Amino acid sequence: MIDYKFGDSRHLELTSSCRLACPYCERTRFKGQYKSRDLPRDLVFRLVKNPNFKKIILSGTLGDPIYHPYFFEIVKKIKRSGKELRIATNGSGKKLEWWGKVFNQLGIHDKVCFGLDGLQDTAHLYRINTNFFQVFEAMTLGAAINRAVIEWQFIIFSFNQHQIEEANQLAQKFGITFTILKSGRFKPDDPLLPEPKWVPETLKKKLAKGG
Ligand SMILES: C[S@@+](CC[C@H](N)C(=O)[O-])C[C@H]1O[C@@H](n2cnc3c(N)ncnc32)[C@H](O)[C@@H]1O
Ligand code: SF4
Repeated sequence: MIDYKFGDSRHLELTSSCRLACPYCERTRFKGQYKSRDLPRDLVFRLVKNPNFKKIILSGTLGDPIYHPYFFEIVKKIKRSGKELRIATNGSGKKLEWWGKVFNQLGIHDKVCFGLDGLQDTAHLYRINTNFFQVFEAMTLGAAINRAVIEWQFIIFSFNQHQIEEANQLAQKFGITFTILKSGRFKPDDPLLPEPKWVPETLKKKLAKGG
C-alpha cells in the first residue's frame, strides 16, 4: 500500500487485495510473500483532505482499489472534497447496482479505466478469473450514465492481437473510450508477446507503453 505523489496528483494504493491472478502482476509473482491489507479508512480520509492535490488516483501495484471494504465511502469523500478522481480497475466481481452507485458519484473530469484484455473468448486468458460480460456490462452502464469518462484499456497479447479492431468498434458503439497498452513485461521469446503489425494504422496513435 503506497502513497505516491505525481505533481498535483496523489496516487493511493488502497489495498493489496484482488480477485484476479494476472501472471505478470507483482501480486501473483510474489504471492505468499506479503499480507493482503487495506489502508485504514481514516488515514485515507485524511490524505484526501490535503489541499495540495487536486486529483486522486486509485490504482495500485499489488492490488485493485475496488476491493477495499470502504471503496464507495472513499469515492464519496474524494468527490465531496471537490477533487478529480481516476480509478484503474479490472472491474470484476461487483454487481451492476454497486457500479451504478459509484458512477453516479462521478463527474465529467473523472475517469474509470477498466483493464480488459480481449473479448469473451480471450479476456480471461491473462486476466485469470475475469468475466468478460460482467466487466463489459459495468463499462456500458458507466458510459450510459455518462458522467465520468469510461476507458477500456486493452493490453495486447499474442492471443488477442487479432481482436483489437473488433474491441475498438464495440467500445465506440457504446460510448466507451478505447486505449491499447503495450506491456513492457514480456521476455524476448515470450509466447504472449504480440506482433506490432496487428495494431491497425488508425489505432497506432492510441498505443501507449506500460511498465
Ligand atoms: C497493477 S494495475 C492495478 C489496477 C488494476 N488492478 C488493473 O490491473 O488494471 C495498475 C496498472 O498496471 C498496468 N498493468 C496491468 N497489467 C499490466 C501488464 N501485464 N503489463 C503492463 N502494464 C500492466 C495497467 O495500466 C494498470 O492500470
Ligand atoms: S487485476 Fe490488477 S492487481 Fe489484480 S492481479 Fe491483475 S494486474 Fe494485479
